[in-house]
Amino acid sequence: MADLVTRAKWDKAARNFDLMAGGGAEARWKPFKQKLFANMQGRILFLALGTGLDIPTFPPGQDITAIDISPKMLAQAAPRIAAYDGTIRAEVMDVHEMTFAPDSFDQVFTSCTFCSVPRPVEGLKALLRVLKPGGELFMFEHTGSRYLPFKPMMDLMTVLSRRMGPDMNRTTVDNVRKAGFRITEVENVFLDVVKTIKAVKPQA
Ligand SMILES: C[S@@+](CC[C@H](N)C(=O)[O-])C[C@H]1O[C@@H](n2cnc3c(N)ncnc32)[C@H](O)[C@@H]1O
Repeated sequence: MADLVTRAKWDKAARNFDLMAGGGAEARWKPFKQKLFANMQGRILFLALGTGLDIPTFPPGQDITAIDISPKMLAQAAPRIAAYDGTIRAEVMDVHEMTFAPDSFDQVFTSCTFCSVPRPVEGLKALLRVLKPGGELFMFEHTGSRYLPFKPMMDLMTVLSRRMGPDMNRTTVDNVRKAGFRITEVENVFLDVVKTIKAVKPQA
């Protein structure tokens, strides 16, 4: 059944999303995202395209299938999709209910998503299903910290932040492992909070 609560939350966030997320932090993360997205090749799924803030950091010439649960986020992405020097086919779809055949993609990319997907391990298992054996997952994520004083602060912040948007305290690296991926690289971008994660779907 469609997750109307999550859709409504992100539809509501869409109008001000670029204002909130598109400023200083985005500029700061840009080189790290560019480096991660430079790995794009083959059949690519981009999960949670949002308003398309990441599109200017994609390498040109790719053929990308993109999904997001929120039609309003994707509507905001339309001009950035049109400006991309390659192909992006964007569809409204919940990661938990993807209609793609098993083993459809060589790679999945996503950024700042598994702070938001309501059932992260289930969502990651869904990605495993649509990736080919040996297929790669590339993530740019903010997660909870393991260290004081950040851990309790982020637990507290999450009580409020999840009402309007993301959780601040997710254990995303553990979740990737729990879903059945083999982690190949974790690189901290800011403290142990913002990071890139690379993982592989094990060969059958
Ligand atoms: C924090 S925003 C990030 C958007 C974009 N990746 C960026 O970095 O600008 C989180 C995105 O995840 C999407 N999302 C949340 N739950 C989802 C789900 N179950 N399936 C697909 N997309 C989802 C939201 O609609 C939103 O666009």
